[in-house]
Formats: sequence, C-alpha cells, structure tokens
Amino acid sequence: MSTYTDFRKITTKSLFLSKQKGTKIAALTAYDFITAKLLDQAGIDLILVGDSLSNVFQGNETTLPVTMDEMIYHTKAVSKGVERAMVVVDMPFMSYQTNLDEAFRNAGRIMKETPAGGVKLEGGERVAETVRKITEAGIPVMGHIGLTPQSIHQFGSYKARGKDEEEARQLIKDAKILEESGAFSVVLEKIPAELAKEITESISIPTIGIGAGVFCDGQILVTPDMLGLNVDFNPRFVRHYANLAGDMVEAVKNYVKDVKEKGFPSGKESY
Ligand code: KIV
Repeated sequence: MSTYTDFRKITTKSLFLSKQKGTKIAALTAYDFITAKLLDQAGIDLILVGDSLSNVFQGNETTLPVTMDEMIYHTKAVSKGVERAMVVVDMPFMSYQTNLDEAFRNAGRIMKETPAGGVKLEGGERVAETVRKITEAGIPVMGHIGLTPQSIHQFGSYKARGKDEEEARQLIKDAKILEESGAFSVVLEKIPAELAKEITESISIPTIGIGAGVFCDGQILVTPDMLGLNVDFNPRFVRHYANLAGDMVEAVKNYVKDVKEKGFPSGKESY
C-alpha cells in the first residue's frame, strides 16, 4: 500500500510517476531554513523558493523587485533544511526575459551556486525557446501560466485568467508547448477548475494548481498565507490551516507582560 511519503528523495521522475499513479503532489513555498526544515519534516513534496518572497518577506507590492542574488541567498538557506522535498527556484523578473543567453546563464547560476533541483519561470509559448535551451543543458524547468504575477503591469489586475474562450485556448496551447519544450511540470495559477482539468488531461507532465481547482495533479500555496500569517491577503483560493498571526501576537503580548512584571526569567531560567 503506497503512502504519500513513498519516495525517499523527490525528483522530476518521482513527480512524473506521481501523476501517472494519480498520487497528488503537495507543494508549498519557503524562504528560510527553519520553515523549509519543518515543511520537509511534514512530508511536503516540493518546496518553491518563490519570488513571492518579494511580497511576504520583503514587503513589496509586486514580485518585480527581487534580484538573482536574493533568490540565491534564500535558496541556500532553504536547501540546508531540506532532505526529501524537491527544491525549485523562481527565476526573478528580468533574469530570463532579456535574451536567451542571459536566461541560460542565470538558470546555470542558480544550479551552480545552490543545491536546488530546478528553476521555474513564467510564461507559455513566448518562453518556449528559453525553456528548451535551459532544459537541454540538463536543468529541470517548471513552467507557470495563467495569472503570472511578473506580468502584473500588463494584466492590470490579479483577476482570474482563462475565463474567455480565446485565453483558455491559448493556455491549453501554452501548456502543451511547455511540455514539448522539456518542462517537467507546470504551475496553473488562478484559472477556472474545468480549464485546469482540460490542461491536466492534455499533457503528461504534472500540473500544480494555485487557485486552479481540484483536478490539478498537485497544489501549491504560499506558506505564510496558508499558515494565517499574512492576514491582509485573503483570496478565495487560500485555506488557512492555522492562525499563526493570532498565536504570534498573543505569545509576544505574554512575553511583554512577563518582562514588564518581572515574571521572566524565573529562577529556573537563570544561571
Ligand atoms: O512565487 C510564488 O510563490 C509562486 C507560487 C504562487 C506558485 O510562483
């Protein structure tokens, strides 16, 4: 009888086998050592060092300001906490859009300077050549289509994508092209569940959904969102599995009170 921690080390191959067996893939983001270690211990399959760190770690409005050096810095920290999960790193805005050689060099930098297992970049048909060049060098690439936050200024909003026929057709085409170009998986962000189902059934590589319904081969959420740390961000696709913001404020209030009232440290906590 298989369990959800079947594989000793998650690789592109085990993710592909998971899709074939119908075993769902559980993915989350991490940006630091402790979080990555806890996610890995809990049996997460894939950890994404997402450029969402721009929003939830650095406090920026968009994902655009993050740099290659910052992605590498966070990936080094995350990787030290991970034994089983596959670590995938977002290629930041403008690290792969300028030209093929720069994209190739930056993907190579991530793989040389960190122990990550692959990179992720946003876009479908328009990044096909880039995906092909990077994968041909032996670097696993994850695609990302639907709502692609690095293009926020082009979209003008974070609304769901693929709701009209033309955009839906293009997304199906994008997913197929990503597969043909060598991508090992593709993130589907904020698209209708039925469209995600059609895409999932039309390609052999696993789809990982965020706001894309239950038919994807796996799911990903931004960890501070699902742990209830990022209380100001409440889209419908986020389920709160904890209320860590509340717990944290309560804990810190108790600490402040104890310090002020000389209740901490006690004799036992002193030398
Ligand atoms: O940056 C990120 O965290 C992501 C996920 C939302 C898929 O790209």
